[in-house]
Amino acid sequence: MKYRTFLKTGEKISLLGFGTMRLPVKDGDFAKVDEAESIRMIRAAIDRGVNYVDTAYMYHDGMSEVATGKALKDGYREKVLLADKLPLWMAKTPEDMDRIFNDQLKRLDVDCIDMYLVHSVSAPVWKRALKYNAIDFLEKKQAEGRIKHIGFSFHDDFEVFEEVLKAYPWDFCQIQLNYMDTNFQAGVKGLKLAGPMGIPVIVMEPLKGGKLTDVLPQSIKDIWDQAPVKRTPAEWALRWVADFPEVLTILSGMSTMEQADENLRILGEADPGSLTDTEHKLIQNVADEYNELIQYSCTGCQYCMPCPVKINIPDIIGRYNDWFVYEGNEKIMSDFKTWVNPKAMPSVCEECGACESHCPQHLPVPEIMKKAKEIFE
Ligand SMILES: NC(=O)c1ccc[n+]([C@@H]2O[C@H](COP(=O)([O-])OP(=O)(O)OC[C@H]3O[C@@H](n4cnc5c(N)ncnc54)[C@H](OP(=O)(O)O)[C@@H]3O)[C@@H](O)[C@H]2O)c1
Repeated sequence: MKYRTFLKTGEKISLLGFGTMRLPVKDGDFAKVDEAESIRMIRAAIDRGVNYVDTAYMYHDGMSEVATGKALKDGYREKVLLADKLPLWMAKTPEDMDRIFNDQLKRLDVDCIDMYLVHSVSAPVWKRALKYNAIDFLEKKQAEGRIKHIGFSFHDDFEVFEEVLKAYPWDFCQIQLNYMDTNFQAGVKGLKLAGPMGIPVIVMEPLKGGKLTDVLPQSIKDIWDQAPVKRTPAEWALRWVADFPEVLTILSGMSTMEQADENLRILGEADPGSLTDTEHKLIQNVADEYNELIQYSCTGCQYCMPCPVKINIPDIIGRYNDWFVYEGNEKIMSDFKTWVNPKAMPSVCEECGACESHCPQHLPVPEIMKKAKEIFE
């Protein structure tokens, strides 16, 4: 395993971190974690050098924390930095932060969480963090020895990232980064902002949740086939992230032992700056080809918003595009069902056209909503 240094403490952190959002499950039921297999995988990864394990309150309906806690019994807890997160959107009052935190300690059966993050920060989540004095709460937990390091994970635009990053001397942050999301959310710009500020960056979704590996369009396979060195799509994607020296660790949500084996091997070899120019060009060609498959070039500028019937228009267009880019990958469908508000589905569009008249790209939004309804509803 390769290691990178967490400058705050001098600790060596494994380049592969174990993300527990996509543990193996039984009967295809997200909430029925296959505990025995999850424990086997997490412990095998730790035995082979992984020392960072990431969970969250809502993963697998709470069962990720439980399985992670069990995996860390028998002496494994001491071998890792354990990361968990505060889901502020689930806190209806400031007191709820304490209730959730205590639930987490109970589920994990630990008395301290090493890396504690404000979960999935976006503009509204950050607003709530300020309203509830969440930082004071976290610092209190830190003073009590219940949390070691304070960070945040992020899902919004770069501008919001910059505001949040500069608002507090964070110990670390966590962003989504892969070769398709270079300009999405915090993106490479966010990584390069955090680096010189001395805020280590933990990367999530390096394989775009598996969309870069599951179902490959033929045109993408053809480009990978041109590579002088033969590597799997997972290896190209992980090596692309590992190439950035600003990255402290890369979380992958491995769902099988084979995936864990492969990712352990890859991140046991990848040094920063080790990809050649030719290899970077090849990865860029793959990204360009994926982008060619996009149906509607929405830039996410939000000029179409607010929608009178509350549809999150850029989000729906993004999911519609993903459906074509990633060949109808079933994850796009399950993500849609998980994250899109049932009261603001594309079918509630009343074709008022207010969005269309404001769209700088002149996208036919009501028509796209109809097409998205056909696919997703
Ligand atoms: N804080 C946040 O807001 C937030 C958000 C997202 C994620 N996270 C954390 O970050 C972690 C990483 O994100 P992620 O789970 O999206 O990571 P990811 O590595 O992008 O995706 C994981 C998925 O990729 C596929 N995969 C993994 N290794 C593979 C391999 N070697 N070959 C082929 N396919 C492979 C598997 O999907 P299939 O088995 O389905 O093919 C797996 O479920 C999460 O587990 C979670 O802990 C945090």
